[in-house]
Amino acid sequence: MKELISAEKISKRIKAIARKINRDYKGKQPIFIGVLNGSFILIADLVRELKVDCEIDFIKLSSYGDEKISSGEVKLLKELNCQIKGRDIVLIEDIVDTGLSVSYLRKLILKEKPASLRFVTLLYKKDICKIDFEIDYIGFEIENEFVIGYGLDFAQKYRNLKAVYVLQE
Ligand code: PRP
Repeated sequence: MKELISAEKISKRIKAIARKINRDYKGKQPIFIGVLNGSFILIADLVRELKVDCEIDFIKLSSYGDEKISSGEVKLLKELNCQIKGRDIVLIEDIVDTGLSVSYLRKLILKEKPASLRFVTLLYKKDICKIDFEIDYIGFEIENEFVIGYGLDFAQKYRNLKAVYVLQE
C-alpha cells in the first residue's frame, strides 16, 4: 500500500469544498444524498463543516462488487426515502471512476424533477471518466490507479483507513 493523499490533505480539501457549498447554497435547504457504501466517511466529514440547513439521505448502488473492475452494470440496492421534486439535490460520491454510477444517478434523480442537481466527489479519474456533464465539486483528480481508504474498499476491506492509498499488486 502506498499513501496517495494524506488525512491532513483530505481534511483541508473538504473544508474548502464546504466553504464553497456554504456560499453556493446560502439561504437554501439542500438534500445531501450519500451514495453507499463508499461515501459514508466523506458525507459525515463534509456535512459537519456546513453552515447551510441540510437534510441527509442515502442511496445504495453497486457496480464493482468485490472486484477491481466495474461490472459495467449499476445495481440499485437501496432506494431514496426523500421527496426530490422541487428540491436542491447534492449527490456525494467517494470516487467517480468510469462515471457509470453518476450517470445512472443523474438520470434517476432528474426523472423526479429536482430544482437543481449537483455532484460532489472526493476523487475523480479524469482520464477514465466518460460523462457529458460537470462534476461540480471535486476533491482531487487522480490517475487510473486502484485506490482504497477513506471509504473506498477492496473486497469490502480498508474503508476505515484515514488516508487514501494506492493498492499495489
Ligand atoms: C464505487 C464508488 C462509486 C463507483 C464509482 O462503488 O463508491 O459509487 O464505484 O465507479 P464508476 O464511476 O466506475 O461507476 P462500488 O460499486 O464499489 O460500491 P461501494 O460504494 O459499496 O464500494
